[in-house]
Amino acid sequence: MQGVISFKQLTAGDKYPFFPRSNHSINGSKFCGFFKRRGFNLSISAISQNDITHEAQDASKRALAKKAVGLVKSGMVVGLGTGSTASLAIEELGRLISQGKLKDVVAVGANYQSRVLARQFGVKTVDLNDVNNVDIAFDGADEVDLNKNILKGGGAAHTMQKVLDSMAKECIILVDQSKVVLQLGSTFPVPVEVLPPAISPVLRRLVTLGGVPEIRSALRKDGPVITDLGNMMVDVSFPNGIQNPAELEKSINIIPGVIENGIVSGVASSVVVAIQGRDDVMVISLEEFAKILRDQTKADST
Ligand code: A5P
Repeated sequence: MQGVISFKQLTAGDKYPFFPRSNHSINGSKFCGFFKRRGFNLSISAISQNDITHEAQDASKRALAKKAVGLVKSGMVVGLGTGSTASLAIEELGRLISQGKLKDVVAVGANYQSRVLARQFGVKTVDLNDVNNVDIAFDGADEVDLNKNILKGGGAAHTMQKVLDSMAKECIILVDQSKVVLQLGSTFPVPVEVLPPAISPVLRRLVTLGGVPEIRSALRKDGPVITDLGNMMVDVSFPNGIQNPAELEKSINIIPGVIENGIVSGVASSVVVAIQGRDDVMVISLEEFAKILRDQTKADST
C-alpha cells in the first residue's frame, strides 16, 4: 500500500499544510523517497488532493471513525462531534450498539446534526445537563498543528463542540493529513460565533487583533449563517499568521459579544491522522506523523 505525505515545500517557519488543498501538485507524482512502516510505503512527495478520489477520502474518514469508536466501552457517556468525520463515527457507534458489542452507552450531541444522526443510527442521546461528565468525545477538525492545537468551526458548531470536548476525560480528534499544518490559520480563517446585536463592535475589535473579519454568508439562504444557538458567524483570517494559538483564543474570547471562537488549545488528548493512499488508508497518531516528517526532513538534508 502506498500513502503520500507532502512536505517537500516545508521548512521551519513555513505555515503550509502537509497536504496542499490547492489544485496544483508540488512535485508531480514522482516519489522522492519511501518510508517503510508497518508494511505501508509512505512516499514523502506531493500529489494534488485532486489525485485522491472522493471514495478514498470517505475511506479515510471511515477508518478514523472506526479507530475512535474502538475506544468506546460499554457504560460510557460519549460526546458526539459534528462534521462528516464525526458523522461516520456516530454511524459506527450505532452499528456496534445494534450488534450488542456496546451496551448502556449514552451520548451527548454537540448540535442538531449529531443528535439527528444519533437517533437515526440508534444511539441514545441525553441532554448535556443530564450528565455529570463525558467519558470520551470524538470530533473532527479543520486544522491541527503539531502541538495538538485545533481549529474548528467550519460547520458553525464549534461552541458546543468545545464545551463537550473540554468536558471529556478523553478527547479524540480525527483528521486526514490535509488538515495537519505547521501553523494554525494556514488554510482556514478562525471562526467566531458572535451575538447578532454586537456584530459591529466585535468586527472592529477583531481588526485591532490583526484579523480580517468576514461575516459568513449562508449558501442556500439569503444573508448570514445563523448558528444552532441563534448567533452570527464571522470568519477571521490573520495575514501575519497565528504565532500563539492559546493567546489568540483568549484574546478573541474576551471581546464582549463574542460567544466562542474556533481555536481549541490544550484540549485534545489525542489526534489521529489518516494517511490516504490511492487505494488504502493508514491511521497513525499525530506524534507518529510528526516523527515521520522529522525523520524524512533529516534524511533529505543529508
Ligand atoms: C464543525 O463546526 C467543524 O468543527 C467540524 O468538526 C470540522 O469542520 C470537521 O469537519 P469534517 O469532518 O467534515 O472535515
